[in-house]
Amino acid sequence: MKLTLTKSISKVTNIVFLAEDITGLKDLISPERYAYFKKSWDSTPLQYVKSISGFLFVINTNKANLDDCRKHGFTILDFVKNEKNLHVSGDDEAKTLALLEGLLLSNYQFLKYFKAAKEKKNKLQEIKIHGAVTKNALNELEELVASVFWARDMVNEPVSYMNATQLSKEIVAKGKASDYNVTVLEKKKIESLKMGGLLAVNQGSEQPPTFTIIEYKPKNAKNKKPIVLVGKGVVYDTGGLSLKPTPHSMDLMKSDMGGAAAMAATIDALAKNQIPVYVIGLIPATDNRPGKTAYAPGDVVRMFDGTTVEVLNTDAEGRMILADALAYSNKYKPELVIDAATLTGAAVRALGTRTSISMGNAKDSYFRKLYESGLKTHDRVFRFPFWEEWKEDLKSDIADMKNLGGANAGMITAGKFLEHFVKYPYIHIDIAGPAFLEAQDSYNGKGATGAGVRLLYDFLKNL
Ligand code: BES
Ligand code: MN
Ligand code: ZN
Repeated sequence: MKLTLTKSISKVTNIVFLAEDITGLKDLISPERYAYFKKSWDSTPLQYVKSISGFLFVINTNKANLDDCRKHGFTILDFVKNEKNLHVSGDDEAKTLALLEGLLLSNYQFLKYFKAAKEKKNKLQEIKIHGAVTKNALNELEELVASVFWARDMVNEPVSYMNATQLSKEIVAKGKASDYNVTVLEKKKIESLKMGGLLAVNQGSEQPPTFTIIEYKPKNAKNKKPIVLVGKGVVYDTGGLSLKPTPHSMDLMKSDMGGAAAMAATIDALAKNQIPVYVIGLIPATDNRPGKTAYAPGDVVRMFDGTTVEVLNTDAEGRMILADALAYSNKYKPELVIDAATLTGAAVRALGTRTSISMGNAKDSYFRKLYESGLKTHDRVFRFPFWEEWKEDLKSDIADMKNLGGANAGMITAGKFLEHFVKYPYIHIDIAGPAFLEAQDSYNGKGATGAGVRLLYDFLKNL
């Protein structure tokens, strides 16, 4: 979809009229129709009519906050997705952009595996915008949405295509296109670095692991020490020998690299929009399988930083691969380390799919800013406690730690496990809830949502 600015709005096309005052609508429609819209202006936030000249949608911005505008975008897209054209007229930049964001995000389709993909594809190609929006803001929005779509695509791809090697190839290709450095460590290198956690999870797999390092370091970066973003790249999670019970619990586990997709896509968006922030991305990737040589409950694994871990459940694999990446992050002496991971079912049970969960030991001001970015983008995150006592649940009889906490607060003991490996200020984000949806949720769609990308883009841009 293309967004272009226009000087005037055509009357004979589909129109979205967005304003805090209805009088501007007078010039566009007949007096009778104007009277009709005016009558319900205060009571109905979104009104519409269809005539021979096309759809007309009227939004009262006094009655619509930013996210209402995004959701109106979703509602409207369903009407106009196969139209030839659409004009948007708005008198408020933030709300017009939110509406456009909702329209664009709702236009996502993952059609690769349909025979009739061409026929299924939405026909709307271009939106013309009139009013209080700058060309720069439109470009930024388009790039950001493209990155969200990339994250969604990677997550929606089944493991038969999106294995660890393919995941790193995707990131290399984007790095070339958008001009940032990507280095892929192959299995041999991972072995020589002794990344025991990543290698243990990979033991049951037919396919090699990868460890992808992304570096975006603009000359005008505001920070000297990088922000490191770590993403869980479990391209498929069977649970390993602690096999997930079927039915259904495995069906969505191609989405277990949602954190990896979110972090790569966030950096991609920052780079394309030339945001002056120095960021490193670390993506450990593998599938988790119960193959003949799979790691087993009771095994003791020596991790990248030398910590030994007693494995009591091979389905707690995310923390095994993240721990090595988090320990690797120490070498950058980062200002802040953030990871995103579809880490625990406990996070989903606690708060459902409407928010991610954050926790960590970074300064409160970081958490406040992250929370505010969440409210602003509606890619929300809610902070959980992170007190020391939860660490006691991870004590092992024969190793430094075990990879399994107690029966309760699984999202927190998982976070505490990860914290052990990071020597710098740390935020853990569990995105297990919102990363992949089984039912349509407005512009977030159904299936992969790209959760975390808009959140972290806004957070890092405004840091
Ligand atoms: N990838 C799962 C977590 C998950 C569950 C994500 C549901 C999305 C939806 C993770 O690897 C996992 O299996 N976690 C276990 C940990 C447990 C064994 C300590 C869980 O949450 O059950
Ligand atoms: Mn698991
Ligand atoms: Zn997992």
